Amino acid sequence: MKKLIVAFFVFISLTNVDLYAKEGMWVPLFLQQLNEAEMKKMGLNITAEDIYSISQASLKDAIVIFGRGCTGEVVSDQGLVLTNHHCGYGAIQNHSSIEHDYLTDGFWAMNRDEELSNPGLSVTFLVEMREVTDSVLLDVTDEMEEADRQQLIDKNIKKIIADEPVVEGNNVIVKPFFSGNRYILFVYDVFTDVRLVGAPPSNIGKFGGDTDNWMWPRHTGDFSVFRIYADSNNRPAKYSADNIPYTPKKHLSISLKGANKDDFTFIFGYPGTTKEYLPSDEIRLITQVENPVRIKLRTLRLNKMKAAQNSDPKVRIQYAGKVASIANSWKRWQGENKGIKRLDAIAVKQKLEKNIQSWVDADENRKAKYDNLIPSFRKLYADMTPLRLKYQYYREAGMGIEIISFASRFTRLINLVNDEKVDADKIKKASESLKEYSTGFYKNYVVAIDKQVAADLLREFADAYPSAELPEALQDIQLKYKSDFAAFSAKMMRKSLFTDQSAIEAIINNPDKKAMKKIAKDPAFILAKSFIDYGNKINEEIKDLEYQSVALRRNYMKLQMEYDSDKVFYPDANFTMRIAYGFVDDYKPRDAVKYEFFTTLDGIMDKEDPEIYDYVVEEKLKELHSTKDYGRYADADGTIHVGFTASNHTTGGNSGSPIFNADGHLIGINFDRNWEGTMSDLMYDPNQCRNISIDIRYCLFIIDKFAGAGHLVDEMTLIE
Ligand code: ARG
Ligand code: GLU
Repeated sequence: MKKLIVAFFVFISLTNVDLYAKEGMWVPLFLQQLNEAEMKKMGLNITAEDIYSISQASLKDAIVIFGRGCTGEVVSDQGLVLTNHHCGYGAIQNHSSIEHDYLTDGFWAMNRDEELSNPGLSVTFLVEMREVTDSVLLDVTDEMEEADRQQLIDKNIKKIIADEPVVEGNNVIVKPFFSGNRYILFVYDVFTDVRLVGAPPSNIGKFGGDTDNWMWPRHTGDFSVFRIYADSNNRPAKYSADNIPYTPKKHLSISLKGANKDDFTFIFGYPGTTKEYLPSDEIRLITQVENPVRIKLRTLRLNKMKAAQNSDPKVRIQYAGKVASIANSWKRWQGENKGIKRLDAIAVKQKLEKNIQSWVDADENRKAKYDNLIPSFRKLYADMTPLRLKYQYYREAGMGIEIISFASRFTRLINLVNDEKVDADKIKKASESLKEYSTGFYKNYVVAIDKQVAADLLREFADAYPSAELPEALQDIQLKYKSDFAAFSAKMMRKSLFTDQSAIEAIINNPDKKAMKKIAKDPAFILAKSFIDYGNKINEEIKDLEYQSVALRRNYMKLQMEYDSDKVFYPDANFTMRIAYGFVDDYKPRDAVKYEFFTTLDGIMDKEDPEIYDYVVEEKLKELHSTKDYGRYADADGTIHVGFTASNHTTGGNSGSPIFNADGHLIGINFDRNWEGTMSDLMYDPNQCRNISIDIRYCLFIIDKFAGAGHLVDEMTLIE
């Protein structure tokens, strides 16, 4: 353990800071020790303490987890929050109907009373983070069985959390870093009264749609505006008309100076998952086994959904969110596969493994500790690969059928109702939560689409394996319907109660044994149940391998740090607050092509095509463009800058992250990565990997000039 800490705190040699990208998502807690000197050398004008402090207000106090998977930032002393349009999408969609189509038309609250509440949406502030490795690993030894080790760790973590002072509204968690070599505790404040303040129309907020998604050059105005409300003590509180706008410890200052080539930038946010330190086998499994199958299965789903959307405006709204999220990973996996191939990443990792193995072999002590490690991965992945692939079929084909994934939620209720010992209160809670879920489900569910999707996915699943290896219900369909999955699917939809909202709600409202019998006999439920059993079986088989894998990964991480002891390592992303830094930068996507680092409103007009949904431009925006009514939001070059690229290392979860200049002033909102760089979750390439941000001046221009909501800009702190 000691050694590891030493390796982690080795100081950076400051002689050769390159003016290129800087790989890494750094833990703010260690910014001063590990990064401050380098950041300053690269151009930072403020201190690590200005960025992250627990003794005084710092930038970190203006950064939030937005919802469950995005980042947001506070930009006024009245709790105004900026995030991406695609992060606020669910909320905007929920308030949308054919009559009030905020997705299409945009929405702007012209006063506080018009701001819209969003049950289920939260905004989470980090209060503090603290390393707790020693307490988590108390009494843990290298000799322990992995399962025992995990049990002890869980127990230790429980105690650490229990020992924290209880504060209403707080949430305390402990997360592993460096594959379980270190642990950090986080205290969060969770605010649940978060109201929608503004969103541009989709042809601004989602301009370019899924066509441009993950790509540069980009012209998406991907932002939306919310406000946090608190009780009269400025503390988190459930929605109430009496709540008042939250007064933050800190709100960001916004620079109108723009992003210029080679400017130092840093980005703050909650990156979700990266796998930078896993062996070549994992990259092969992801890119050659899992990705191709999930891409294929999602293509089938998307084709059916999009066709239905194109022929019915109501369906377009209903399926907007689902399609966006299915298409998003679907496209990323494709980019990731390309990038991994171009980098020859598997060979690169194999070479590293060979070098590490030779280094291990050269020393008896190391040999004693690590000799078997890398070969063990080979064996592990050989065993794990077929299971992980099956799991993908379970998730993407089985649970990719909407009615199946919905029906699968009823297993818990059935178990509770049929269990004599369970008290009524538990059943009531379960049925209430199902009821809430079911309302949302039926609002956006179209049987005709799901029927086609089911036929396609079941066929793919069945074709992938010999009969005996399939979920039992699928084997039955093969027999009874002679593998005519379309016929089965049509019949299932005709017979199933799950296509009938009122029948299902009647059951949820009165979940007695008789009702549960009805569900248990339902064809959609029977299929769902069979898939769940199948998934559980895979999980059971994978569990042992997972334990092995957890241990191997932990030791391999440690080994890599010992092997490369001069390098300063950053931990893989785990949806905790991180800082990445780099420069505003252009890049060369391929031979003979160079991409400029910024896009402009002129580019939007170039892309305009009234015939193509993704490229429609509003009259109002065209008018502002033709009269050049840009106000103070224009760049020094006289145009409106829309987006820009920079070399900050980011991933999913960094959506909505603030991007700062050297003075710590907000210059943009991160919302994407470039196509050529999407493999950065597995291997980062400083030449190709860029994060894509919306220029903050474009947001302000849209709010002020386009939407006429200048009162919101008046709330903000602008630096001219
Ligand atoms: N690719 C971005 C991210 O991973 C944006 C996704 C939303 N946009 C979309 N067209 N689906 O979240
Ligand atoms: N759009 C992504 C998100 O929702 C960020 C892009 C990325 O993966 O880097 O977090």
